[in-house]
Amino acid sequence: MDKYEKVFELAKRRGFLWNSFELYGGSRGFYDYGPLGSTLKRRIEQTWREFYVIQEGFMEIECPTIGIEDVFIASGHVGGFSDPLCECMNCKEAFRADHLVENVMEAAGTLSAEDLTKVIKENDIRCPECGGEFGDAYEFNLMFKTTIGPGTGRQGYLRPETAQGMFVDFQRLSRFYRDKLPFGAVQIGKSYRNEIAPRQGVIRLREFTQAECEIFVDPRNKKHPNFERFADKELVLYSQKGQEKGESFRMTVREAVKAGVIAHEVLGYNIALTNEFLTKVGIDPAKLRFRQHLKDEMAHYAIDCWDAEIETDRFGWVEIVGIADRTDYDLKAHARVSKTELYVYVEYDEPKMVTRFVVKPNMGKLGPVFKGKAKAVADALKHLSEEELSKDEIKVTVDGEELTVSSDAVGFAEETVKVSGENVIPHVIEPSYGIDRIFYGIMEHAYDEENVAQKVAESGLKGSEEAEKEAEAGKNEGETEGEEEARLVMHFASAVAPVQVAVLPLLTRKELSDPAKNIIVKLREKTLLVNYDDSGTIGRRYRRNDEIGTPYCVTVDYDTLEDGTVTIRDRDSMRQIRAPVKGIENVLYELIYRGRAFEFAGKPFNF
Ligand code: GLY
Repeated sequence: MDKYEKVFELAKRRGFLWNSFELYGGSRGFYDYGPLGSTLKRRIEQTWREFYVIQEGFMEIECPTIGIEDVFIASGHVGGFSDPLCECMNCKEAFRADHLVENVMEAAGTLSAEDLTKVIKENDIRCPECGGEFGDAYEFNLMFKTTIGPGTGRQGYLRPETAQGMFVDFQRLSRFYRDKLPFGAVQIGKSYRNEIAPRQGVIRLREFTQAECEIFVDPRNKKHPNFERFADKELVLYSQKGQEKGESFRMTVREAVKAGVIAHEVLGYNIALTNEFLTKVGIDPAKLRFRQHLKDEMAHYAIDCWDAEIETDRFGWVEIVGIADRTDYDLKAHARVSKTELYVYVEYDEPKMVTRFVVKPNMGKLGPVFKGKAKAVADALKHLSEEELSKDEIKVTVDGEELTVSSDAVGFAEETVKVSGENVIPHVIEPSYGIDRIFYGIMEHAYDEENVAQKVAESGLKGSEEAEKEAEAGKNEGETEGEEEARLVMHFASAVAPVQVAVLPLLTRKELSDPAKNIIVKLREKTLLVNYDDSGTIGRRYRRNDEIGTPYCVTVDYDTLEDGTVTIRDRDSMRQIRAPVKGIENVLYELIYRGRAFEFAGKPFNF
């Protein structure tokens, strides 16, 4: 079993992930999140909100997951959101044509469907399922189509990204933020892509969760007001140049922006913020890098893009976040299709005196020709472009009627005016997170099979009562005894662990279960999610909780009745501390939400 299989075995058995529609044989590209998976996923999303909504101040909006066709015509998805598909002529199985040729050539992703067909034929690439021949490759649009309304209805699509909602709502958002750049908005929600052949579990889903942030910035100023926060943070970068040599390197954000490796401060800040978020939710920093898109792989809307990639056992480096500078592509595209100007009026720090040419219609000449319409013609002339005004016969439209004005009726003058600002089409910086992939990354990076004897030695527990309990746990699981025992543990970060505390009465007797239940009430009041477990030995209960990554177990025993203390056991070190029942909810809250060291649990503490 490779790690992916092991993680999935645990994920299914303990209620993290289940194949959707299992009762009916399942369907590729869909997964259900079970009770613990769903809780873990919500915690990832909640931590993301803390970063982007609370810390960064980008408010959350919620748009429909179905979009009307115009939106995706403007965004470019109707025209160009496709992957090359190739079907086996024998068994009819569909494959990504670029994936089929990956073994015979590099950069397969950049080939056209026509070229892919050629490569497949020339190399006699056959169907991996049945050995059949392939038909021609063709571009397959990945959007799910639907009909809005009854009958022939109106063409709609399930959104392929949440981002478009923020662009379509741009004018409303701009008003909300009082037209002050920079501003931003986020959405967390489902997106849909009808993937051709999803064979990678939750890494490639047809229905998936995105957390996307669209930050609208002044294109003339891509400095970040809070740049110093991460300026000296060292990141692992795999830049375009680095990829030519096959080497990633460490560099601070400040150095990377200064050297032009990262295009500007706003991108640099957001890459560092992503690094901070991913490590907080439990991505292993040693298996995390930021890879810059190569020029020919950049999305049609981007001028620079960095992917946060994580190293996985089966799939190698996998993209989990994309951080792109989308420029003004989206706003211009929506302005064009909706025929609405989308911009922000930006005031200068100081008004400027600007000299410009202005149109001076000659009323003496316009009056006799256009009579009652002369004033309207004069106004219309003021709105024409220089090119339109330079013609011998100038055309204007008044009340829907096209009128021709002789050029000698139009004069020009130079005028110096005070200008206090200008219209700016903002650029968009977009951190786009694939929550399901992050979920899987967290599961894989948290998964561990530990040698208990070694762990006990490292924790300085050898010979202690705790060590005995841990060893006893192994025996109860029917594993190899003593020194060789392995424990399966999910080292989830406290911020995302689904069950936060397990409360375990030593025995199933009322005198112990009653105080245990009283503790649970206090912990729940403090919003902590608690698991009560009274079956099997204590050691065995520890192992059950290790497997689902519960960071702390609280054991109620006969000393509790004597001296009002309980044992708190730390999942990662397996160490135990006696702590008073009084205030235990505050102690655990501090350990889980405020990242306090475990030693804190045993110290006197005033709240
Ligand atoms: N919004 C970027 C993406 O969905 O890939």
